[in-house]
Amino acid sequence: MMYPYQITSFEAYQEAYKKSVENPELFWEEVASHFVWKQKWDKVLDWNFSEPSIEWFKGAKLNIIENCLDRWVETQPNATALIWEPNDPKEPHRILSYKELHEEVCKFANVLKKNGAKKGDRICIYMPMIPELTIAVLACARIGAIHSVVFGGFSAQSISDRIHDAQCNIVITADGAYRGNKTIPLKSIIDDALINCPSVDNVIVHSRTGIPVSMIKDRDVWWHEEINSLDKNTASICHAEIMDAEDMLFILYTSGSTGKPKGVVHTCGGYMVWTNYTFVNVFQYQQGQVHFCTADIGWITGHSYIVYGPLSAGATSLMFEGIPTWPDAGRFWEIVEKYKVDIIYTAPTAIRSLMSFGKAPVEGKDLTSLKVLGTVGEPINEEAWHWYDDNIGDNKCPIVDTWWQTETGGILISNLAGVTTAKPSFATLPLPGVQPVLVDEQGKEINGNEVSGNLCIKFPWPGMLRTTYGDHERCRLTYFSTYKNLYFTGDGCMRDKVGDYRITGRVDDVLNVSGHRIGTAEVENAINMHTGVIESAVVGYPHDIKGQGIYAYVICNALHEDETHTKQDISQTVARIIGAIAKPDKIQFVSGLPKTRSGKIMRRILRKIAEGELSNLGDTTTLLDPSVVEEIKNNRL
Ligand code: WTA
Repeated sequence: MMYPYQITSFEAYQEAYKKSVENPELFWEEVASHFVWKQKWDKVLDWNFSEPSIEWFKGAKLNIIENCLDRWVETQPNATALIWEPNDPKEPHRILSYKELHEEVCKFANVLKKNGAKKGDRICIYMPMIPELTIAVLACARIGAIHSVVFGGFSAQSISDRIHDAQCNIVITADGAYRGNKTIPLKSIIDDALINCPSVDNVIVHSRTGIPVSMIKDRDVWWHEEINSLDKNTASICHAEIMDAEDMLFILYTSGSTGKPKGVVHTCGGYMVWTNYTFVNVFQYQQGQVHFCTADIGWITGHSYIVYGPLSAGATSLMFEGIPTWPDAGRFWEIVEKYKVDIIYTAPTAIRSLMSFGKAPVEGKDLTSLKVLGTVGEPINEEAWHWYDDNIGDNKCPIVDTWWQTETGGILISNLAGVTTAKPSFATLPLPGVQPVLVDEQGKEINGNEVSGNLCIKFPWPGMLRTTYGDHERCRLTYFSTYKNLYFTGDGCMRDKVGDYRITGRVDDVLNVSGHRIGTAEVENAINMHTGVIESAVVGYPHDIKGQGIYAYVICNALHEDETHTKQDISQTVARIIGAIAKPDKIQFVSGLPKTRSGKIMRRILRKIAEGELSNLGDTTTLLDPSVVEEIKNNRL
């Protein structure tokens, strides 16, 4: 069998889980022995959550790319590593075997070196969903440079902040990106971002759309010209840098409850083992199957389940450049039919959006190749779960509801497809190595079943974050200080009578809009940048398609005669500062915000009003000016 650590029965799951808790070091040592290491570890695990300090496979040396590519080039060079489906179905698709992908990665790694990249450098990647994005990511890892991928929907300001925070010296981008019927001028956005980024010396530009761009002398080079300029005899030879298991592999920025996104840091050894282990077990991947994860590589889901998990398992990973609804809402199902996809992994928001088009886009599509369906990113409502089950899986495919976070590196709580039991809207059981606990506000563990609390994890797993880039104290404060000796997830959770976990959503000021994490404070900061705005408060509210929508209460000093005009201006400001994904769905102008005497905004009240729960607002007597609540209620959108 290809994966000796693949769990294939419920009994085997129970046994693995027990072993992973009773003797975690032995358990992970066994799993890790199936990877390629340059040097074995001295110690499997060293940790404390108080600093925090977490070290897995301490002293071991490896290169993750030898595990993702070289070892498969030896055993299955012609197996398909990557299938790429373009935005426009009329354009030809691309298929890269392990041998071809390896060659492309080595070539581009040499281009990076030629442009001054060294081990430990931070490299920002801002690209469309094309094979070159995967190649760029893998090439960084091969030479030991730390990639920081920024999702193509973020604004120049957001990119600039991220580049600045990580002090990147190289940017990899493309002239433009296709998304549905739109073309996004990526290079021009990068040029704006770089106006104030002195750390960046070089920009490598891939030509995707052919739109005009300005190339800056001594800074910008074309990807294809650089490849062509390599010495033909040695272009595809590139030594894989030897890394410590705990060397940084990548940084990925994510939103929290403060205004500034954090650079979550993952390291080489543990992340590799974790993404591989979870990929193989949750999806029950079988050799030769086609795995289609619909996420963008700009998010953690793409990092772990398009790139590292599947490739480290020698799998076939399908990446899709476009959007689910263009040219029509049947696009995903067309792709499934075209490539005989075995596993599809998508977000509840995509399912709900496709549901709204009814059955027509699915009808006539041959989906019989599908074996496993997955969801991730937000709680899935039962209606969407059943639609997925009935219409896509034909009630024959297990659905895995996978709960995890950017910080966790890979899936922590999920059923294992066809091996453990699925339950609509429940992530169900923890993976081996994951020890969840529910705690009350005081941090006391809530034992037993049929209970709810804040979800924490009490023991390290190999894929967890190690720090937040450049600010370890922030990592400690955010995740390890709320409850002593526990990693706090920020999610609320209930455990039912048989011990299955159901994630109920964030308990902090983080919104989950279409599966994207957005901090309310971030959106408020952006709104407040608009000259007419004095103050704002942002909350989430239930949204049929997006899961959560963004509701902004705004105090303005100078409203435009036409209110909608002012609203558009504010939305534009948010798009400029963060990106279009953070634009408020609703903006209500108010004359004041409900505040306590100490000046704290009572978000609970604002949330209730946004949700339409007007009758039971709780105690408002502690408010400085209770009358604003009446006004806000009366003008609710
Ligand atoms: C939410 C995405 C319910 C959760 C991989 C978490 C989920 C946040 C699920 C992390 C799920 C993710 N059920 N909620 N199956 N998966 N979430 O960092 O609130 O983008 O804290 O990672 O998404 O979002 P992130």
